[in-house]
Amino acid sequence: MKALVYHGPGEKSWQDVPDPRITHPTDAVVRVDTTTICGTDLHILKGDVPAVQPGRILGHEGVGTIVEVGSSVESLSAGDRVIISCIKSCGHCANCKLGLYSHCLGDEGASGTGWVFGHLIDGTQAEFVRVPYADNSLHRIPPGVSDEEAVMLSDILPTGFEIGVVNGRVKPGDVVAVIGSGPVGLAAMATAGLYGAGTIIAIDTDRNRLEQATRFGATHSVVSGSPDWREQVLALTDGAGVDVAIEAVGIPETFTMAVDVVRPGGSVANVGVHGKPVELHLEELWIRNITISTGLVNTNSTPMLLKLVAQGKIPAGALATHRFGFDQFLDAYDTFARASETRALKVVISRRTGAAPQT
Ligand SMILES: NC(=O)c1ccc[n+]([C@@H]2O[C@H](COP(=O)([O-])OP(=O)(O)OC[C@H]3O[C@@H](n4cnc5c(N)ncnc54)[C@H](O)[C@@H]3O)[C@@H](O)[C@H]2O)c1
Ligand SMILES: [Zn+2]
Ligand SMILES: [Zn+2]
Repeated sequence: MKALVYHGPGEKSWQDVPDPRITHPTDAVVRVDTTTICGTDLHILKGDVPAVQPGRILGHEGVGTIVEVGSSVESLSAGDRVIISCIKSCGHCANCKLGLYSHCLGDEGASGTGWVFGHLIDGTQAEFVRVPYADNSLHRIPPGVSDEEAVMLSDILPTGFEIGVVNGRVKPGDVVAVIGSGPVGLAAMATAGLYGAGTIIAIDTDRNRLEQATRFGATHSVVSGSPDWREQVLALTDGAGVDVAIEAVGIPETFTMAVDVVRPGGSVANVGVHGKPVELHLEELWIRNITISTGLVNTNSTPMLLKLVAQGKIPAGALATHRFGFDQFLDAYDTFARASETRALKVVISRRTGAAPQT
């Protein structure tokens, strides 16, 4: 088969690799019908995630059709159309029992982490992928949900919701600032309303993304880097700061922005993957009663979010802006990496080859 292989910082290629096989009775092999690229893949290519070794097939998001299941897979069979969750979970270890799938102790790929695809085992940017613990790591797609909608449930919708909105403890009427209006930030905006956010402020350097944010629930936008960005945000609150600041970029500067804009007693929910240390001013934060949360997505909200997508309550499909065939994978990366010029949100790469990029 063909797959997108990482060859060290800045290097990747779409090349021939061996087909994946069932290696454990709990595995499934899935034919990937649709996949996409995450901001985290760009971090990997920058060298920010050193655990990813050269030779690894990238990608942790995908929708596909099961071609084969291992002998102990019970709830799924060949032919099922499924979402591949970005997190594998055995479903029965101590952490899975707590709903902490991100730290699944099942040792396929690695013990103690749920994020294995495109990280510690081969990922979904390929024609086929081996999925460990298939019963728990795959979600059957109900009729009426398209591949493009479903692929947003592999990672970005649960991430924005669980690590942004739930960890940030958004409450009815809250003012929520989302710093970074990429797909993950937009997913946080699109789900903040589930907990009753009153005002949702999108913040980004990219004006196109700020314009798009209104389609995903943002009520206001502020250009990051404007000299008075903070005053603009404070003017949308009672003057004391936002109730919840969600960081969805992954650089020191935006974490500091989140801390600077939150009200006393408020929450900073860090979602971004950081490649460098970030200064934490505990000497100033404690007396402001600030709560800070971090996290790797668990994906335990995926079944609920899938229901909402099926009911048309979350505009998942609108996140797909550009479409490519598998043979155009490098173009898809280029388009996603130059999002400020190409106006890309999520680039969708699917089996049908020769598809013209569409905006
Ligand atoms: N915690 C998790 O489980 C998890 C899961 C998935 C993704 N992530 C992380 O979430 C982050 C966002 O992912 P994405 O796919 O949306 O990435 P992305 O690169 O598409 O989006 C990042 C956005 O930040 C904006 N930005 C850059 N500098 C900025 C600044 N100074 N001020 C304001 N905005 C700025 C960019 O213009 C862009 O719109 C990444 O760090 C990714 O690794 C975390
Ligand atoms: Zn991701
Ligand atoms: Zn587990």
